[in-house]
Amino acid sequence: MLENLEEYILKHSTPEPDYLQEIERETYVHIYNARMISGRLQGRLLALLSKMIQPQLILEIGTFTGYSALCLAEGLTGENAKMITIEKNDELEQIIRHNLARSPLGEKVHLMVGDALQILPAMTDVFDLIFMDGDKCEYEAYYHLIFPLLKRGGWLLADNTLWDGHIIDEKYDKDKQTVGLRTFNDMLAKDERVEQLILPLRDGLTIVHKK
Ligand SMILES: C[S@@+](CC[C@H](N)C(=O)[O-])C[C@H]1O[C@@H](n2cnc3c(N)ncnc32)[C@H](O)[C@@H]1O
Repeated sequence: MLENLEEYILKHSTPEPDYLQEIERETYVHIYNARMISGRLQGRLLALLSKMIQPQLILEIGTFTGYSALCLAEGLTGENAKMITIEKNDELEQIIRHNLARSPLGEKVHLMVGDALQILPAMTDVFDLIFMDGDKCEYEAYYHLIFPLLKRGGWLLADNTLWDGHIIDEKYDKDKQTVGLRTFNDMLAKDERVEQLILPLRDGLTIVHKK
């Protein structure tokens, strides 16, 4: 039933550009753990949210093969609007650069290869939109580092916050990623500097607005 619904949703939603279809297909053929890719449904949501927000500066933690970066870049308008995306796995660098070059939007995306936990403390830019999609055990640490970098009135999107439902399943009490995500969700729920909603799309996407 849910699979049929997803099929229906995709049939009645705007298709993704061809280059994104190719990136998704090649990621599934060549890259280990390909299911980490955002994919069409979430990708189109990221693109639409970015178009609504009209950011001048976007930050992403966790580039993987560049799919979500190119979706978010669809909302960049104006000559100076740009995006910074950070990826820790240097083995992905070549494929990310190759994938970004498949779209004219790739020129607006600046890739930084390294650990976000090392890179973020030295950053001074102020972002309109941040997409958090790195290591699930590190979400709380990312949050503390990015909070001062997020503009007032800015938006944070945090991916996988329902973690396949494990978040409420006690069988996963000792699973590091589940524990990391629960810590992040609990912390966010208590943070009065923001308002937020966990959207039950795919694996859970939290939308956070900095007051
Ligand atoms: C879920 S995947 C990202 C998927 C991608 N955003 C997309 O939607 O197609 C997570 C990525 O975060 C990277 N990563 C994990 N920890 C990181 C860190 N501390 N700094 C930067 N990247 C990190 C991993 O190497 C992996 O490529």
